[in-house]
Amino acid sequence: MGVMLHSARVGSLLLAAFVVAGCEKKAAQESAPPAPAAAAPAPPAAAADKAKLALFKPLRASFDEPALGTNAARVELGQKLYFDPRLSKGQQISCSSCHDLAKYGQDGEATSPGHRGQRGGRNSPTTLNAAGHVRQFWDGRMANVEEQAHGPVTNPIEMAMADGAAVEKVLRSIPEYVRSFAAAFADDKQPVTFDNMARAIAAFERRLVTPSRWDAFLRGDEGALTAPEKAGFGTFVAKGCAACHNGELVGGGTFQKLGVKEPYPTADLGRFEATTQEADRSVFKVPSLRNIAKTAPYFHDGQVKTLEEAVRLMGKHQLGFALAPEEIASIVAFLGALTGDLPPELAKAPELPKSTKATPKPDLH
Ligand code: HEC
Ligand code: HEC
Repeated sequence: MGVMLHSARVGSLLLAAFVVAGCEKKAAQESAPPAPAAAAPAPPAAAADKAKLALFKPLRASFDEPALGTNAARVELGQKLYFDPRLSKGQQISCSSCHDLAKYGQDGEATSPGHRGQRGGRNSPTTLNAAGHVRQFWDGRMANVEEQAHGPVTNPIEMAMADGAAVEKVLRSIPEYVRSFAAAFADDKQPVTFDNMARAIAAFERRLVTPSRWDAFLRGDEGALTAPEKAGFGTFVAKGCAACHNGELVGGGTFQKLGVKEPYPTADLGRFEATTQEADRSVFKVPSLRNIAKTAPYFHDGQVKTLEEAVRLMGKHQLGFALAPEEIASIVAFLGALTGDLPPELAKAPELPKSTKATPKPDLH
């Protein structure tokens, strides 16, 4: 369970311990990756650099877990379902509408239009690398992508299906889906279920990883980052960003208060809405910064239009000081190195199975 339920308090304790210990020292205690064999003696800065790097980890090849029993058929099915608007009442909206893989897993909007153009109050986060987060949603109300994938389909302002049975009716009306579910869930008597739809979509999402030049750099390829990007990494750590944005996803691992030093104006109560614990007021999941240069607008409310502004506000609200424009530019240069690529076969919209006469008609009411 350990990391599953970081409350705000655990989060700030961790943060305090981190600050007291100092980044360099804490990281030095953990086992640093073995240094590549080098003929020349290491420059004096190398030990400190290594300690900073130990706060981060290269991206895994996928977020698959053996216990889930994923197979290739399930991932392929999940990819189709992710793109299929027939899982929505109006048959116009799919996961891909708000989490467009061609736009780095989001839609570029502050809030996203769902069924009949209705919008919720929060920004659509990216689905890329999301399966690796400690929990799902800005407030962490869902444990994992398997749980999460049920929600949007029956959410009245998103895909608006009446219930799981309505979804099953659509899926069972399409013979190719019936065959694909049988192959993906061979042990099940009735493979075509709402729950298996969610499991298949989640199996696909667990493959949505975007390795970048940053990962090559972490694995020892010094030339993978430009000099300004390396300097920006130094600024990022020196200013304290890595206290919250660290690890494999450069974030995504803990919940923290938004407004540690100065309140951020928002009506959103964050994690409090999921837990009703006082300590969780204004607490949000720390977003992963992978692909962050590509996923504007920013923050849970989508009100921050540029990456420069997001970094400036982090200085103000989370760290309690004004970052100089050149520090902001330096950090933004580093963040650009976190942009990665999906395997091309996962990014493309698949051909969808054909409807039949039995397939329910779109309902736009
Ligand atoms: C109408 C837009 C819309 C549609 C359609 C939609 N989502 Fe989302 N999605 C959102 C929003 C908004 C959030 C954030 C909500 C929150 O945190 O309270 C979100 C959050 C998520 C997250 C959590 C990511 C994170 O960083 O915590 C995942 C995963 C996700 N959606 C997957 C899906 C899948 C799979 C589908 C299709 C079954 C889907 N979404 C359909 C808008 C949408
Ligand atoms: C105390 C923890 C903490 C510190 C320190 C911190 N952040 Fe954040 N960061 C967060 C949280 C929490 C959010 C989510 C804000 C929200 O809910 O809208 C966030 C959001 C962001 C975002 C927007 C992400 C998105 O997807 O919308 C960026 C960019 C960012 N931080 C960069 C930085 C940088 C750069 C620094 C250092 C100058 C920094 N952060 C320091 C906790 C922190």
